[in-house]
Amino acid sequence: MKKILIIHGPNLNLLGKREEDIYGSKSLDDINKSLEAKAKELSVSIEAFQSNIEGEIVQKIQEASSEGFSAIVMNPAAYTHTSVAIRDAVSAIDIPVIEVHISNIYAREEFRHTSLIAPVAQGHIAGFGVQSYILGLEACADLIK
Ligand code: DQA
Repeated sequence: MKKILIIHGPNLNLLGKREEDIYGSKSLDDINKSLEAKAKELSVSIEAFQSNIEGEIVQKIQEASSEGFSAIVMNPAAYTHTSVAIRDAVSAIDIPVIEVHISNIYAREEFRHTSLIAPVAQGHIAGFGVQSYILGLEACADLIK
């Protein structure tokens, strides 16, 4: 069974408690459980990883292929707008990365309108609430079929 890595960036451990008007009331655990259920339907397996630390995310991206992952669904959170290191890690690997966001980053503050990751990602999904993750997983499963 093909494995897909889910990467959650900084502050996403606070989902459910953090700016609920923007990010909703579901916790990270709820999201991971929904992803597990969807993964079963799609006949893939997933592993979820969250970090508030840029270098840990870079490391995980670098190791994904040798750890047997066929693709990555990633919400880089605030690092979307700042991290050349995460962008370079995505560019350096040979498995597809789908970038997802809960909120529509283009309808928010101007500093969120630029994603450094989008130009090197396979695709980009934003604005569908936690459903963005499910859409990202579906897209990934389709890509690696
Ligand atoms: C986010 C959007 C980012 O701008 C923000 O920094 C986040 C979450 C989203 O999922 O909507 O932490 O990636």
